[in-house]
Amino acid sequence: MEVIICPDENRVAQVAAAKAAKLAAAIGPAVVFGVATGSSPVKTYNELAKLVAAGQLDVSQASAFALDEYVGIAAGHPQSYHEVINATVTVPLGLDPARVHVPDGFAADLEAAGPAYEAAIRAAGGVDIQFLGVGSNGHIGFNEPTSSLTSRTRIKTLAPRTREDNARFFASIDEVPRHCMTQGLGTIMDARNVVLMATGENKAAAIAAVVEGPVTAMWPGSVLQLHQHATIVVDEAAAAGLALHDYYQETYANLPDWQRLEV
Ligand code: F6R
Repeated sequence: MEVIICPDENRVAQVAAAKAAKLAAAIGPAVVFGVATGSSPVKTYNELAKLVAAGQLDVSQASAFALDEYVGIAAGHPQSYHEVINATVTVPLGLDPARVHVPDGFAADLEAAGPAYEAAIRAAGGVDIQFLGVGSNGHIGFNEPTSSLTSRTRIKTLAPRTREDNARFFASIDEVPRHCMTQGLGTIMDARNVVLMATGENKAAAIAAVVEGPVTAMWPGSVLQLHQHATIVVDEAAAAGLALHDYYQETYANLPDWQRLEV
C-alpha cells in the first residue's frame, strides 16, 4: 500500500490525478476507469479534466464503471449516481456516455442487475484504475461494515452512519435512500490499480483502520491491504490517526525517479 500525505485537499486532488494520469498514459486511450461518487473524488476528476483539455491525457476511447447507485431514488433525481457521474465524470472528461456505466438501481429485477453489471465489467476487460473514497465507517463502494470481503455487485442496506453522512446531499435524512446497488469488495479488488482519496478529520479513524488496522469486514476498506497496487492519498486531517505518518512522508519525499509523479 502506498500512502501519500498532502498538505490540503487541493494537493490531494493534484496528486491523485497525477497518479491516475501516469497509470492511464501507460495503458492508453481505451483505459477503463472505476469511478466513485461522493465529494472526495470531485476535485481529482476536475484535475484530470484539465489534463485532458491541455492534451496531456488521452481518454478518447475510455470507459467508466461507477461503484454504486441508490435503490429507491427516482431516475433523473439530481442525487442519483447516474446523474452525479454524468455531471462529475462523463461531461468534464468528455467520455462517450455509451461507455459510462452505473449499476442499475432502477432495475425491475434487482437480483439479476448485480451479475449483469459484473458481466459488463468483464466484457470491458476489467477496471484498470479504480477511484475510491472511504466512508467514515470504513466502507468502500457501499460495502458497509460486515460486508463479505469477497462480495460481488449486489443490493445492500445503507448503514445509519452512511445515511447521516449523505444527508448533506438531500433536503433531509428522510430523503436518503435506505438501499443501494454496489460493486462488491471482491469486484473492487479485481481492479488492476486503486487510488483512494480522503480528506478531513471525519475520515481520520477510517483511514487509520483501513491502512494500519487488521484486515476486517468491520472496516471494509482494510481489504485493500491485500491489493498489490493500492494508493491512498490523504490530507493531514485525514492522516491524523496514522502511526507511521512520518514514514509515509519520508517515503514519498525519497521516491526513486521512475516512481515520481509530475505535480
Ligand atoms: C460513492 C461511494 C462511497 C463514498 C464514501 C465517501 O460512490 O462509493 O464509498 O466514496 O461514502 O463519500 P464522500 O466522498 O462524499 O465523503
